[in-house]
Amino acid sequence: MTTQVGMPIADDQNSLKLGDRGPHLLEDQIFREKLFHFDHERIPERVVHARGYGAHGTFELTDDLSDLTRAKVLTEVGEKTEVFVRFSTVAGNKGSADLARDVRGFAVKFYTKEGNWDLVGNNIPVFFIQDAIKFPDLVHAAKQEPDRAFPQAQTAHDNFWDFISLMPESMHMVMWIMSDRTIPRSFRFMEGFGVHTFRLVNAEGKASFVKFHWKPRLGVQSVLWDEAVKINGADPDFHRRDLWEAIQAGDYPQWDLGVQVFDDDFAESFDFDVLDATKLIPEEQVPVRIVGTMTLDRMPDNFFAETEQVAFQTGNIVPGIDHSNDPLLQGRNFSYLDTQLKRLGSPNFNHIPINAPRCPFAHFQQDGHMAMHNPRGRANYEPNSHGLGPRENPERGFRSYEAEEGGAKRRVRSESFADHYSQARQFYLSQTPVEQDHIADALVFELSKVEIVAIRERMVSHLPNIDAELAEKVADGLGMDLPDAATPARPVVETEPSP
Ligand code: HEM
Repeated sequence: MTTQVGMPIADDQNSLKLGDRGPHLLEDQIFREKLFHFDHERIPERVVHARGYGAHGTFELTDDLSDLTRAKVLTEVGEKTEVFVRFSTVAGNKGSADLARDVRGFAVKFYTKEGNWDLVGNNIPVFFIQDAIKFPDLVHAAKQEPDRAFPQAQTAHDNFWDFISLMPESMHMVMWIMSDRTIPRSFRFMEGFGVHTFRLVNAEGKASFVKFHWKPRLGVQSVLWDEAVKINGADPDFHRRDLWEAIQAGDYPQWDLGVQVFDDDFAESFDFDVLDATKLIPEEQVPVRIVGTMTLDRMPDNFFAETEQVAFQTGNIVPGIDHSNDPLLQGRNFSYLDTQLKRLGSPNFNHIPINAPRCPFAHFQQDGHMAMHNPRGRANYEPNSHGLGPRENPERGFRSYEAEEGGAKRRVRSESFADHYSQARQFYLSQTPVEQDHIADALVFELSKVEIVAIRERMVSHLPNIDAELAEKVADGLGMDLPDAATPARPVVETEPSP
């Protein structure tokens, strides 16, 4: 055992004292260094998705997508790309229980030959809000209330339902979160979704739209609400224990990566906007094409070094993949870098091994706290005539898709984002009768915890726009009269349930 600077330690049991029972001596550099470091062990927890659990693995491509993209990770069949995945709950603090009714984060970092690609998704294919400017409000309303500091990890409280009932765009997501999807049996039984519409861009510069999906080989399974409550009491670490035990036993979980690809003309044919993250692309209209498999086969050696310090961000994409104009995605691209600077304390957080690329990299960024990869030699700028340092690569380098954009600069919500109920209804009707009952029961349970009656009523007033029977069941369960239906911003489109 040594100190931080390598001095061998003879006695790690006793501090330096004056006499046998006297006061500590200030000169005890060994004690001072040990306590100094301990006192600074904690870093801020993530502002959302604070409770998470990670694992290492590989992604193997089975289907060549070179007609659609030039990304090597999606064109080199048989290539195994290392990945790190972090599953998480969203609202609870770092020490909260695993089986809260909550969305699960499903964040995948691909260490590709062309840099890191982060697919920072959830286990639900849609989101609560359409524009990232509402994200702080959503998260404030979902997490503990500011005066009482509870509840810690549940949707069941006034502020959450107050906000949600005032945001009709969240109704599709509400159907998903009241379903069994938000009480998964384990991480191994969850689907994952990139949520947003992204772009694939091929070598000729031709672009398509794409949605990313993860399909668990074990299928999708959930627990019942009563089970969730009991498990949380008996073992709040239920999900992390499950993943640990499965991987240690060699029972490696696998997910197939799927893509839904469509072009701009096809995108125009939908009666919703593909840039609206509260909508999904029905799989019967655009089937999911399986293109590869991810296997998780190794737990981190150290939870803090890897799972806590990993920094995912939607901005991490590779040549051949691009962003769309989804206003939620655009906001995320700003938010992750910003929050990670705060959380990890230095603009050099990509020097931490879990975040560093595993392909060669070179740039002229330098200095800052904890700089580990400063430029070597005389030149730290480009162009330079020393012939030193990295240069651009016009052939293989990242190029943004040259989308035609225009229009007045305005704060506006497109009219094409206005239908908030059709897909909510489509999801509800796609459920089996038992699953539909679970949704109704969950709404009754959650809303029965809401103390302010006007909030309950406002929330229930959205339900007739989704399904009349559901609305009646929930009103009945809450012992209240069915309120008048909320006025939709746009007529609800009659849609068939998904099979
Ligand atoms: C963290 C997913 C929307 C801000 C995360 C994480 C996931 C995730 C999986 C955890 C990453 C990890 O395990 O370390 C999503 C999805 C969204 C969404 C799927 C919508 C489709 C947003 C929006 C914002 C945002 C709109 C802000 C404008 C954050 C922040 C963190 C986070 C600040 C903490 C990151 C950190 O400290 O490292 N998100 N998120 N998210 N998200 Fe999102």
